[in-house]
Amino acid sequence: MSLPEALPSVRLFPLNEPRFGTAVSQFQVEGNVSGERHSDWDAFMEHYPDICHPDEKGPDWWSGKWKEDFDSMAQLGMTVQRMGIEWARVMPEKGKVDETAVAKYRTMITYLHELNIDPMITAFHFVLPDWVAQEGGWESSRIKQSFAYFTELLADRFGDVPYWVTVNEPMNTVAAGYFVGEWPPGKKHDLKGTIFSRRHLIQAHDICYTAIKKAIPDAFVGAANAVIWVEPHSQSLADRVLVGLDSYIYNTNFIYATQDMVDFIGMNYYTGYFLKFNPKSPGLATGENEKGAHGVVQVPFGDVITPDGLTSDLGWPIVPEFFLKALQSLHEQFNKPIVVTENGIADRSDQYRSYYLLTHLIALHEAQRRGIDIPMYIHWSTNDNQEWMDGFQSRFGLVEVNPTTGERTIRKSALLYADIAEAREIDIPRLAEEYLSPDQQEMLGQFLEGLDKRDDSWLNRY
Ligand code: BGC
Repeated sequence: MSLPEALPSVRLFPLNEPRFGTAVSQFQVEGNVSGERHSDWDAFMEHYPDICHPDEKGPDWWSGKWKEDFDSMAQLGMTVQRMGIEWARVMPEKGKVDETAVAKYRTMITYLHELNIDPMITAFHFVLPDWVAQEGGWESSRIKQSFAYFTELLADRFGDVPYWVTVNEPMNTVAAGYFVGEWPPGKKHDLKGTIFSRRHLIQAHDICYTAIKKAIPDAFVGAANAVIWVEPHSQSLADRVLVGLDSYIYNTNFIYATQDMVDFIGMNYYTGYFLKFNPKSPGLATGENEKGAHGVVQVPFGDVITPDGLTSDLGWPIVPEFFLKALQSLHEQFNKPIVVTENGIADRSDQYRSYYLLTHLIALHEAQRRGIDIPMYIHWSTNDNQEWMDGFQSRFGLVEVNPTTGERTIRKSALLYADIAEAREIDIPRLAEEYLSPDQQEMLGQFLEGLDKRDDSWLNRY
């Protein structure tokens, strides 16, 4: 193996940090139990009957299978579980609270405590109750009052939850719902919707933050922001300006708007790209880029270029250096603790997940060594689940789930994660030997050499 010679096992995090955990969102794991769900996403999916077959219930938490997944996470040594409380379930109609649904969530949270796993609750993860959507959803200011009611209810009933995410990837809700039109409410190039949904999501964050802190003063609360790292394709002024604009609009504008009302900056990081100025580019849309990367956000006046090297099942490039850059950049801009609220890979056959985990955790360690405060790392995802418009095609889980039978199998990469979480150190040579292919060991060596140099010469590898 060609790892650099004197690489000792890297001792990770001498203190009690970070906490290691995994994440899901409720819509993605609960399964379609007909007649019981009342959300905009359920209604939207009806237009796409091919995406989820009626037999596919996935992890099917609503029928009680959450327990098996929580037990597996405890076995793997996880100490944080990020999940949601689905607004559409606990308030299926305006002014009505479904106490049976609340009680189900209560049981889940209590069980997590019993396993010594701290719950982290997400209040909004892309899904609205139907009645809220019909009142205009994020576009309408009426949502503020409804969301305030819901978040006060959460704070009141789940006062034993220490970690909270107010809104998940707000700029994806805005872009995919009102500009690209791929998600509810399916509006395209709707400038008014784009502007107002963003504004109301910022206000919703503040409302939720205030409600939680009032009821649970010690709670640790933030939003989970999608960060897709973009790197200029060349050092030309045009490429650099484009990157600056794109990363402000997509990655950080919401953080700037909410930074005075957060205890941490939540970052959902998966991947990154090079951007090249091109006045003829078709504009903002999701779709496929020249190398087949699916779900790529295209940028007005820019070509999105996939770095060379490994990619996930969705064609998303695996570039751990970008993860380090993203951590560094958020630290420099906001100087607050950063919680990695999501990080992971679609990898059905589990051929790259160990490499992804190992390199990203080494990058995280390097960030900590450089003085960045990262109290928590949360891997996406606990289990294979419903990947929005991709249905059960994309498999992000540490636990594999057969979407029809619900049968679970713990993936090998989950054991690597458990090893690091338990040992609280990254024994690079041993883990590389045990979990990586010879090619991946070679790439790991190059990655480590690049980290040592601390400059951008590694960019040439991509
Ligand atoms: C979302 C998750 C999603 C994951 C993988 C994030 O955008 O918060 O709901 O499953 O990324 O695409």
